[in-house]
Amino acid sequence: MSRPVIRIVGIETSCDETAVGIVEDGKRVAANVVASSLEHHRPYGGVIPEIAARAHVETIWDVLAQALETAHLSPDAIDAIAVTQGPGLPGALLIGVAFAKGLALSLDRPLIPVDHLAAHLYAGEMTTPGLGSPYIGLVVSGGHTLLCVAHAECRYELLGETKDDAVGEAFDKVAKLLGLGYPGGPVIDRLSEEGRTAIQFPRSHSKQPFDFSFSGLKTAVYNYVKRMAENAEHSLSRQDVADVAASFQEAAVDVLVAKTLRAVQRTGIHRVVVGGGVASNRRLRTRFAEEAAEKKLEVVFPPPALCVDNGAMVAGIGYPLLQRGRVAALSLNADPNLCLA
Ligand code: KG4
Ligand code: ZN
Repeated sequence: MSRPVIRIVGIETSCDETAVGIVEDGKRVAANVVASSLEHHRPYGGVIPEIAARAHVETIWDVLAQALETAHLSPDAIDAIAVTQGPGLPGALLIGVAFAKGLALSLDRPLIPVDHLAAHLYAGEMTTPGLGSPYIGLVVSGGHTLLCVAHAECRYELLGETKDDAVGEAFDKVAKLLGLGYPGGPVIDRLSEEGRTAIQFPRSHSKQPFDFSFSGLKTAVYNYVKRMAENAEHSLSRQDVADVAASFQEAAVDVLVAKTLRAVQRTGIHRVVVGGGVASNRRLRTRFAEEAAEKKLEVVFPPPALCVDNGAMVAGIGYPLLQRGRVAALSLNADPNLCLA
């Protein structure tokens, strides 16, 4: 007799996405519904925590209902509830955790706490059959930039992290100063295709071999743009802006690739998984693909729908965690500072 399928619902509310995914046996995505409150934050040029939390309260029921409908499932067909415990915005995380606890209690199902950063990396595992461990994990998002060794059984060893801005935050801030709106990552990605990478922005290599620092790069872009504006008799042309965007992107990507390759060299681990919102970046994907071909590395990027914050990655990692009994009591609390526990 074949083993029954284990269906896990994953709830993600760490930032501005209210997301619910349903995944079978940690691999097959039956539903992945994401509602973003982005439009409400856009006028402020960044995520406003109170607005994000309120949007989660208002939409989470509908997002769950839509996920169940997409998967053609009734709530009792769900075997366990996984939820992002952290890291993230405290008020936003609390909504997801409280909602998940309510579901676990009412359905009498196990509750699985998930680290958001581990879930970003698991998005690569769930879409790459046969990917072994250990692998080098590079998390690149709006709130985090880190390198780790991911061992079997969802155990992680942190190698280094950013000492100031996260790389996604740097993309967003540079886009803002170029007047490109929020969020900046996707706009810089697109506009860079029209730009030249001739401007030499600094490649900040901090003293620790695996730590990152992006605030110096951001300041260098700021100073460059200020000087250009002062010298120009007219405002910056589209080509000027594209050149700055492309040169900034190249500097950021250079550092991410160089530090990851250093981690590969030091550990002798030739598999890499890149996760988080910035993993959608096309230049980053191309550069890693080139390195992979040249250095015989296996480099895995999840599809873009699983790079942004989503519930499927949370539901997905819930499966190996459940198998290892890593479930929580209903006294579970959000932990805004969690980092690959
Ligand atoms: O992982 P994510 O959805 O949320 C956090 O956990 O922070 O990442 C969001 C970040 C934002 O900073 C956004 O600008 C960036 O990912 N991003 C990109 C691209 N798409 C999203 N950055 C560079 N290139 C992209 N194509
Ligand atoms: Zn994220």
